[in-house]
Amino acid sequence: MTTPFVIAVDGPAASGKGTLSRRLATQYGLRHLDTGLSYRAVAHALLSADLSLEDEAQAVEAAREVDFAGLDPLVLSTHEVGEAASRVSVHPAVRRVLVEKQRDFARVAPGAVLDGRDIGTVVCPDADVKLYVTASPQVRAGRRHREILRLGGQAEYGAILADIERRDARDMGRADSPLRPAADSHLLDTSGMSIEAAFLAACAIVDEALAAK
Ligand code: DC
Repeated sequence: MTTPFVIAVDGPAASGKGTLSRRLATQYGLRHLDTGLSYRAVAHALLSADLSLEDEAQAVEAAREVDFAGLDPLVLSTHEVGEAASRVSVHPAVRRVLVEKQRDFARVAPGAVLDGRDIGTVVCPDADVKLYVTASPQVRAGRRHREILRLGGQAEYGAILADIERRDARDMGRADSPLRPAADSHLLDTSGMSIEAAFLAACAIVDEALAAK
């Protein structure tokens, strides 16, 4: 393999794209970047400094400081930070800074799996494989609900579903780089599929692209 091999994985909140991406990275010996964490880091920086999420100049400053190696998924994984990340991600200038960093990550050999909302459409339009992972809002809400209960937390299914629908509407409706499948992406609807089945389906697509490279 001479040029880096890049797998772009896009999809809505709680679609299972993160789990799938980590498994693909392990399977194919590639690096992995959860690009949602970079938007979460910007949101977390603003929230911690008590700054407005609408303040684009401050958000750009925070985006410049983002170092992928130093992102702590535990601190950034809260519901509050996810919602704030969706709000700061509408600022075009924030996106420009983070997209450049994400492209730099993808350029390093042997390649990488990047997951997010705009990887196949904007960050890596020439990716070797593009997957669009989705499931119905009800299935995604059900999975998240069970996960929270499994970890001993408390949550109401209806509230989770409403959150997911609101986040979908914002991520798909924003003017800059809205969430949508790239024209050349493979659609993986996991509504009626186990994680294992989704992983195997994705591997078949990647194997075909590797054989053609
Ligand atoms: O995947 P996640 O829940 O960690 O993402 C949090 C928010 O970040 C998501 O609601 C929208 C934004 N985001 C984005 O705009 N572009 C990306 N490539 C990844 C995430």
